Amino acid sequence: MREVAIVAAGMSRFGELWDLSLRDLFATAALEAMEKAGADHIDALYVGNMSAGKFVGQEHLGPLMAEAIGLSGVAAGRVESACASGGLALRAGFAEVASGMSDLVLAAGVEKMTDGADVTEVLATAADQELEAYHGVTFPGLYAMIARAHMQAFGTTEEDLAWVSVKNHRHGALNPKAQFRREIKVEDVLRSALVAEPLRLLHCSPVSDGAAAVLLCPLDQARKYTDRPVKLLASGVATSSMSLAGRADPAFLDAVQRSAERAYKMAGIGPGDVQVAEVHDCFAIAEICCLEALGLVERGKGNQAARSGMTALGGRIPVNTSGGLKSKGHPVGATGIAQAIEIFEQLRDEAGERQVQKARIGLAQNMGGSGASSVTHILGRV
Ligand code: COA
Repeated sequence: MREVAIVAAGMSRFGELWDLSLRDLFATAALEAMEKAGADHIDALYVGNMSAGKFVGQEHLGPLMAEAIGLSGVAAGRVESACASGGLALRAGFAEVASGMSDLVLAAGVEKMTDGADVTEVLATAADQELEAYHGVTFPGLYAMIARAHMQAFGTTEEDLAWVSVKNHRHGALNPKAQFRREIKVEDVLRSALVAEPLRLLHCSPVSDGAAAVLLCPLDQARKYTDRPVKLLASGVATSSMSLAGRADPAFLDAVQRSAERAYKMAGIGPGDVQVAEVHDCFAIAEICCLEALGLVERGKGNQAARSGMTALGGRIPVNTSGGLKSKGHPVGATGIAQAIEIFEQLRDEAGERQVQKARIGLAQNMGGSGASSVTHILGRV
């Protein structure tokens, strides 16, 4: 296998973007990445996308997006794993370059969620239809059950959940691309509308439009495109039962643990070596459970991580310095790539006010559904 580098990144702003169509969003991110690398061609394109068919009535994104960036004819296709589609697109690009099949691959993600579709219903297609969605369970509902299970097992409180949102909004306020650039207080979270008990509006990621793209090539060719390549050290993917009821413990994200174990093994590191991480905080409880499953905190202690400052900028291991899904936004198919971009920028000292000093190894973890799929990537400074 060849060593692989990320050499450039591009990203639209995230938010409710009435002025940009699905293809406009994609082209904004993809062309920015190619321009930064000075690349006028690619060998292949992977587009991570969860549900453009249902959100905007558009399938067949490979040729559409290749054409949108003036590269009709190139090898291109869509990759799907619900909210982990972006992460899986990155893995597909990684494998293609590592195998020697291609030398320059664009791994991207895009989603346009605010054009009028019933977002809650579309998102619920990533749950188990027969066992969950048919009976009326929504994503906020599923994560509310996960939160209840964690509360029962470890005494986690609504306030602990609120601290995750407060931290991520504080980080997002420093990110020019974030959907919400405002700080919030614990009291704001606890006063916000109840969505699915015990989760309130400010415990939830928003509905967003956005796109993100990274350019990959063999590490030994990276200097053609940049003087600061970042090495893609490892990729781990895992799955679990689609339905929460099928899991041994709903408060433990076993697919996240397995995807991380595979990535740690491939990178030859352990969780103690990770200095900055983007984890899948689609709801505040998800960040807590992901930290535990990734081994970044002890099981049952995730509820104290944000409150204690450990995962804030300046803390022992800053988590979701981009603002996370909560504040940066969560255009589902784009999220996994956007997470990798935050780590890429951190490892190139390009994160501005969000910079984590001297970080050499970073992790990006992207999850599908209520944790039925997970993709973990580990990146390293060259
Ligand atoms: N965080 C912060 N503010 C939010 C927000 C969020 N998650 N969602 C909406 N808002 C704000 C809006 O900007 C708007 O503010 P304004 O009045 O100043 O313009 C206000 O709250 C009301 O927005 P609205 O769009 O009417 O909210 P909603 O009630 O329709 O949707 C949620 C709120 C939480 C239900 C929706 O954001 C949601 O479904 N989130 C979860 C998405 C999800 O499940 N993703 C996949 C995870 S696996």
